[in-house]
Amino acid sequence: MGFIADSLNRIQPSATIAVSTKARQLKAAGRDIISLSAGEPDFDTPENIKAAAIRAMAAGKTKYTDVDGLPELKAAIVRKFERENGLQYKPSQISVGTGGKQVIYNALLATLNPGDEVVIPAPCWVSYADIVLLADARPVFPETRLEDGYKLKPEMLEAAITPKTKWLILNSPSNPTGAAYSKEDMKSLTDVLLRHEHVWLLSDDIYEHLIYDGLAFHTPAAVEPRLMDRTLTMNGLSKAYCMTGWRLGYAGGPEPLINAMRKLQSQSTSNPCSITQWAAIEALDGPQDFIAENNAKFVERRDLVVAMLNQASGLQCPKPQGAFYVYPSCAGAIGKTSASGKKIATDEDFATTLLEEEGVAVVHGAAFESSPAFRVSYAASRELLEEACRRIQRFCGNLK
Ligand SMILES: Cc1ncc(COP(=O)(O)O)c(C=O)c1O
Repeated sequence: MGFIADSLNRIQPSATIAVSTKARQLKAAGRDIISLSAGEPDFDTPENIKAAAIRAMAAGKTKYTDVDGLPELKAAIVRKFERENGLQYKPSQISVGTGGKQVIYNALLATLNPGDEVVIPAPCWVSYADIVLLADARPVFPETRLEDGYKLKPEMLEAAITPKTKWLILNSPSNPTGAAYSKEDMKSLTDVLLRHEHVWLLSDDIYEHLIYDGLAFHTPAAVEPRLMDRTLTMNGLSKAYCMTGWRLGYAGGPEPLINAMRKLQSQSTSNPCSITQWAAIEALDGPQDFIAENNAKFVERRDLVVAMLNQASGLQCPKPQGAFYVYPSCAGAIGKTSASGKKIATDEDFATTLLEEEGVAVVHGAAFESSPAFRVSYAASRELLEEACRRIQRFCGNLK
């Protein structure tokens, strides 16, 4: 329709939200659906964080705050970066937004001009590319390989950089693959960036705490402090603190960038929810032991899902070390026909037919710019995961 802006034609609605919505609708219509499509933990927000929100409300902390975060919250974020990452930021270098998504949106919209390029290793989170396209810039997708555990190699990064490159976006542990970079992996990439002074780095650390098998988390600005003045270190409370609905994300970075992000936010949402901000202080400063307890459950579930998916014919599923996703290849299913006679030509056909025939919702790889594969979120109970994997095995076993 001519009335809608051209920029909207460049982007797609979020595919993960679309699949989750379809699964919810089918469930409401009475179908027996197991949805492994959502990017959120199934655990509840810890009680101490909820209590802090209730206290804030009772104390009348219900008014506008500074656009990009309360001074008290910025101070807590400065402490977090110092304590957990060894990064020194001043409060003036901190930006707080309504979810990590808004922080990324602000950073990209505040910096990209038409024709600029952003290097996004694929498979990648669905929203990076669409935000880049909204800004009339160009996403460039070096495609990582299953054999490399879906990690970007320095030579791939080198080849993707051009004089037009403005940003590299790194996301470790990754959505959708769960891939987590070791310190050495990270150093091999920051070494490349040192040679390209015009390229900025957006490090999406939102899965920082969801890291397993004793692997330590390393954020790039700490691995290579010489990149500090061109790195935006972004994080948020949605995943580790089980606070997806509260909407709080934040970042540390150079002051001119933070100021530009604040200017943009001041003309869109203004401050993130005041009550959420007070709860966020408790989340960051309060007890953290629930994270290890949740992680122990995630590891058990990951091991179950990886083992069961690798037993399904035509699937190959690497075992990642972070987040709550696995990203099996379904190359062995492509070209086959399902029990009900549907031809599986793409990973989207695979996911749609799996949902129709077996009632299991997963997200097709094309949504993450890497096919043929699909993403399974294992943020669900063991019983549901076992049943879902049995259905996937049956679905794959029936393909001819
Ligand atoms: C890689 C990644 N970055 C950022 C976000 C944004 O999260 P939120 O806006 O809930 O903070 C998500 C959420 O799915 C994500 O998976």
